[in-house]
Amino acid sequence: MEHIVEDLHGHVHRVADLAVALGRTLQVDDDDIARLGLVGVLHDVGKIHVDPAILSKPGPLDPWELEHMRRHPEFGFAMTVDRFDRRVSEAILYHHERYDGRGYPFGLSGMEIPLLARIVLVADAFDAMVSHRSYQPALPVEVAVEEINLHSGTQFDPMVVDAFNHVCETGQLPPTPASVVTP
Ligand SMILES: [Fe+2]
Repeated sequence: MEHIVEDLHGHVHRVADLAVALGRTLQVDDDDIARLGLVGVLHDVGKIHVDPAILSKPGPLDPWELEHMRRHPEFGFAMTVDRFDRRVSEAILYHHERYDGRGYPFGLSGMEIPLLARIVLVADAFDAMVSHRSYQPALPVEVAVEEINLHSGTQFDPMVVDAFNHVCETGQLPPTPASVVTP
């Protein structure tokens, strides 16, 4: 369990840093920058209600496990809606919606998805790809950048992908797990 907590801790802070860098590139206002920091850290808070055996399962999830895992945005919304600005809890609720409408939990598409959620989706996906997970090894940064671009307009909002490329080109990507030197 300890390694799950450590992994989650590093992941959420990197997602927050990247989401803030994307938000600054997209020139969102200071209130939304603060929200992006919060949503980056809290986006997966609902996983506390997901069975740890499912979170750390090597290999693909069965249909029941997948359905259970996919409820974490709703769990996270319920946990935060009375504590934070509603735009924070809504971004948590929608952080797995896809630009093409094939995401979950509601299948929203395009501009129906709040901008903060579209930003966090890119930051979360990138960090997941460059992190080692129980179900996949870490990808090299350049491969993950290609993947983000490959899914521009389908999974991701092209405007956010453009911002992501700017963040990469200007050296603002947060350090990835592979490039962090530990004693
Ligand atoms: Fe998530």
